[in-house]
Amino acid sequence: MSKPLTIADLKTRARRRVPKMFFDYADSGAWTEGTYRANEEDFAKVKLRQRVLVDMTNRSLATTMVGQEASMPVALAPTGLCGMQHPDGEMLAAKAAEEFGVPFTLSTMSICSIEDVASVTSKPFWFQLYVMKDREFVANLIDRAKAAKCSALVLTLDLQILGQRHKDLRNGLSAPPKWTIHHGIQLATKPFWCMDMLRTRRRGFGNIVGHAKNVSDLSSLSSWTAEQFDPQLSWKDVAWIKERWGGKLILKGILDEEDARSAAETGADAIIVSNHGGRQLDGAMSSISMLSKIVDAVGDRIEVHFDGGIRSGQDVLKAVALGARGTYIGRPYLYGLGAMGKPGVTTALEIIRRELDITMALCGKRDIQAVDSSVLADVRF
Ligand SMILES: Cc1cc2nc3c(=O)[nH]c(=O)nc-3n(C[C@H](O)[C@H](O)[C@H](O)COP(=O)(O)O)c2cc1C
Repeated sequence: MSKPLTIADLKTRARRRVPKMFFDYADSGAWTEGTYRANEEDFAKVKLRQRVLVDMTNRSLATTMVGQEASMPVALAPTGLCGMQHPDGEMLAAKAAEEFGVPFTLSTMSICSIEDVASVTSKPFWFQLYVMKDREFVANLIDRAKAAKCSALVLTLDLQILGQRHKDLRNGLSAPPKWTIHHGIQLATKPFWCMDMLRTRRRGFGNIVGHAKNVSDLSSLSSWTAEQFDPQLSWKDVAWIKERWGGKLILKGILDEEDARSAAETGADAIIVSNHGGRQLDGAMSSISMLSKIVDAVGDRIEVHFDGGIRSGQDVLKAVALGARGTYIGRPYLYGLGAMGKPGVTTALEIIRRELDITMALCGKRDIQAVDSSVLADVRF
């Protein structure tokens, strides 16, 4: 098989290897998936400015996100059930990110636990927090992330209730997979995934089972999660979480200028302009079309990060040009993971780095930190 050259190549391979219910879980958005599609499509509305006869030697993609070094302005976004794309997926992705020199963010809803990921990494990773009604459990999660020396807390604000994703409902998604005939057929067609999955014991939500009250096994877990996301989460909660955590805090899921201003007032270190990869409010604006408005509103007060729809290094450059200090990729690395495990995550990062580097050079820049709107020829959302 030829080497994957694009994120789309990795997606094709992941589709072949990962059982349908889990591949669909990654490749899905809420309702009509209009916002999910717009996240990707709107990048094409940003045109780059071609420059010539500019010295293109000694290029650098290195930067910082919330003061922490990154070999390029790309982090791995938190993704639930990552360990169902590939057994021990979070541990493998975290190791790939560490070797590559970019931040890895572990989701609250991960399969491998905070402690699992800490046991295979030597540098700090980031932890993403969902706020549950059970505040004791939340406080305990924060303390576990501190004990694991996580160097930033990413607090997700855009999932107080779960957006409806039709593919997941139709597939009867669950972790571990349920043994209906329908699922049995899906699994039978993916023997390599099944064999690998049999070799690991990590098949449930590692951060939750055994830690949350009244959740000792997976049957009690599903009712617990359905009830536990907190629809009353407020800006006051951000204040106590910030205080309890005491370290770098990143607020994820801002898509509106007014919310961005409230977020900046909390004293957090960064916000992520994000619509959860089009998985929550279908019909919302694409992330990239909101980025410069939010940078204009709060960019002088708080670091602005970005995610949603990045499928190439060119997209990263466009986001940086529109004012993002750093970006995150979700599906691109999940496809790499599903396709090839840890080398697939590395391949996804390599693809993005190569595209970013060449594009930056052809736009006449040598240092990612010097990239600004001067590399853009036209933006029409
Ligand atoms: C399969 C999947 C699971 C996700 N789970 C979480 C999660 O647990 N917590 C969270 O804050 N965001 C979650 N997200 C959203 C991502 O962090 C990120 O915002 C989104 O994937 C970015 O869009 P992209 O996939 O187009 O790069 C998830 C996204 C996907 C695709």
